[in-house]
Amino acid sequence: MLYHIVTYGCQMNVHESEKISFILEEMGYTFTEKREEADVIVFNTCAIREGAEERVFGNVGALKRLKKLRPSLIIAVCGCMTQKEETAKVFKQKFPFVDIILGTFNLHKIGQYINEAKNKKVFELWQEGSLDEEKGYNRTSGQNAWVNIMQGCDNFCTYCIVPYVRGREKSRSVENILKEVKDIVKSGKYNKITLLGQNVNSYGKDLSPKVTFSELLKLITSIEGDFKVGFMTSHPKDITDQLINEIATNDKILKEIHLPAQSGNNRILKLMNRKYTREHYLEIISKIKAKIPNVKITSDFIVGFPTETESEFLDTLSLVEQVKYDGIFAFMYSPREGTVAAKMEGQIPLEIKRQRVNKLLALEKKIQKEAN
Ligand code: 5AD
Ligand code: SF4
Repeated sequence: MLYHIVTYGCQMNVHESEKISFILEEMGYTFTEKREEADVIVFNTCAIREGAEERVFGNVGALKRLKKLRPSLIIAVCGCMTQKEETAKVFKQKFPFVDIILGTFNLHKIGQYINEAKNKKVFELWQEGSLDEEKGYNRTSGQNAWVNIMQGCDNFCTYCIVPYVRGREKSRSVENILKEVKDIVKSGKYNKITLLGQNVNSYGKDLSPKVTFSELLKLITSIEGDFKVGFMTSHPKDITDQLINEIATNDKILKEIHLPAQSGNNRILKLMNRKYTREHYLEIISKIKAKIPNVKITSDFIVGFPTETESEFLDTLSLVEQVKYDGIFAFMYSPREGTVAAKMEGQIPLEIKRQRVNKLLALEKKIQKEAN
C-alpha cells in the first residue's frame, strides 16, 4: 500500500504533513514519489493567498483522471482551504471524486477516515479540536526537527485568514513540549529544533499558571544535549526585553528572528491592525541589533494593501533600506473572503501590485548584493 502527500503553504503545514505521514505509515502505508501509483493521495492545502488556492484547485482537479483509472484510489483534502466554508464547498461540489474532506482541527483522525472512505464519502470538519499529543511525526526536514508549541492566532490582522481557519490561540502544555524535545534530543538525529506557532511570542498567555515564551525557551534549552533552538513567527507587538535578553545570552538559541513588518507606513499598519508603528518597529530592531551581535533579521511585506498610495509604498521601501534585512518575503495583497480588508474600498489593481512587488524585490536584491 502506497501513499503520496502534497503540501502547500507554511512550516506549520509541512510539520502537519509529518504527522499525517506518521499515521499512514503506522497503518502500513509506504511513501511514494509517484502520484500515479499511490493508493492514498493527501492534499494538505493553504488558504493564505489566492494564488495558493488556485494551484491547489488545479492540482486536485487533475486527480480526476487517476481516480477514473483506479476507482479504489482514496483522495483526501485537508488544511486551511477545507476549513473555509466557501472553498470547502468547491471541493465538495466541483470535485466529487474527492473521498475525504477534513480540516485543521481533526487531522489526527485521518487514519480512521481513510478506513471509512473505503465504503463512503467522509466530510468531517471540526470547529475546534484538542492539541493532539499522542501521535508521532515522521520527520522529514533533515537535521531540523519542527516542534509545534501553539495553534491559532488572536491578532486578526485585517488581511489575514489564519484566525478564521486555525481558530484562537491555544498553547500546548510545557510538559508535553519538553517531553517531545527530550525525545528529539535523545534520538540523536537532530541538531536543530525549530519551535512553531503563528505568533510564538504570545505563547503561554492562555495557560494557568501563565508561562512566557522566554521562560519556555529557558526550559527547553536547559535540556542536556548538543542542539540549537530557533523559532517562528514573531509578532513585533509581543517582543519583550526579557525575550531579547534571553536570545542574546543563551548559547543554545539561534541568533535569527523572523519579524514581519508587513508595511513601513503608519496609516497602512493601522488599517492592517498590526498594533505597532514604524517608529516602534524600528526601535525594536535597534534594540535587537544592539543586544545581539550578528543577528539575522528577516521579514514579510505585503504591497498593495487597499488604499495604499505610491508614497505610502515608498515608506515600505525606505524601511527595508533602513533595516537591511538578511532576507525578506514580499507578497501582493490578496483579498481573502471573510476578512475585514477584503471589504475595504480602494482595492489596488493587480498591475500596480505587481509593479510594487517587483520594486521591493529589486531593492532587496540590491541590498543583498551590497552585503555580499
Ligand atoms: N495577502 C497577501 N499576503 C498575505 N499574508 C498573509 N495574508 C495575506 C494576504 N491576504 C502574508 C503576510 C504573512 C505571510 C505568512 O503571508 O506577509 O506574514
Ligand atoms: Fe495572520 Fe496577523 Fe495572526 Fe500572523 S499575526 S497569522 S498575519 S492574523
